[in-house]
Amino acid sequence: MNHFDIAPGTARPRQAPLEVAPATFLIRAVTPSVGESWTNLNSMVIRAAEPIVVDTGMVTDREQWFEDVFSLVAPDDLRWIFVTHNDSDHSGNMVEALSRCPNATLVTSPGESFRSHASFGIAHERMRLVGNDEPFCVGDRMLRPVRPPVYDSPYTRGVFDELTRVYYASDAFCAPMPDHPVDWVSEIAPERWAEGSARFHHASLCPWLSLVDAAAFRAEVDRLARLEIDTILSAHSPAIGRESVPRALAQLASLPGSSTD
Ligand SMILES: [Fe+2]
Ligand SMILES: [Fe+2]
Repeated sequence: MNHFDIAPGTARPRQAPLEVAPATFLIRAVTPSVGESWTNLNSMVIRAAEPIVVDTGMVTDREQWFEDVFSLVAPDDLRWIFVTHNDSDHSGNMVEALSRCPNATLVTSPGESFRSHASFGIAHERMRLVGNDEPFCVGDRMLRPVRPPVYDSPYTRGVFDELTRVYYASDAFCAPMPDHPVDWVSEIAPERWAEGSARFHHASLCPWLSLVDAAAFRAEVDRLARLEIDTILSAHSPAIGRESVPRALAQLASLPGSSTD
């Protein structure tokens, strides 16, 4: 194992927004992961003709999250807030963002809309409902909600940008960082990336993978591969650039047959 321990009281590293594709930025926070390594808590901003933020960070990172997002898009200019699912590390600032951004509409699924209304009191008039694989326009491009192969909430959908071919995969493709923060997974030793990612998926995201038929799961990963993704962004990983995408897909496809016990 390549785990390392983080001493109590260690200051969390700071990672500024990272431009991963034209007008496409990864907003990052860093937190200890199960007490042994650093993990990203990411969201994404696309400065499209109608700017959009995908996921809204955590309550505990509120001040920094808004500072980062508003350094890229003015509050009144933000038009869309896409929350991949209502977990606290993805929807932590959803209500506050709708409050601070009066021209923004929440993009969500029909199913999740009821939870957003019941749990957070978000008015249906502030929501736009889109189904899986149903593209929606943000002015200069189409974005498509695509469910990732692994998830920890039934309504989870990622977002595929048909212009830049960036796919934001929500929790999928999670991987801890080494003992220092990095921007891209290509900066992690390959065996360490594979081991950390497998451990993260089995322990923290989708323990149900041990119940999954490997061939059926591989077909689901192949469906994603057919999108011809250029860059994968995960809420819990350094960015996955073009050269790393094939390996990321292969690692994910192999998970039902692997074990980290
Ligand atoms: Fe989640
Ligand atoms: Fe998450």
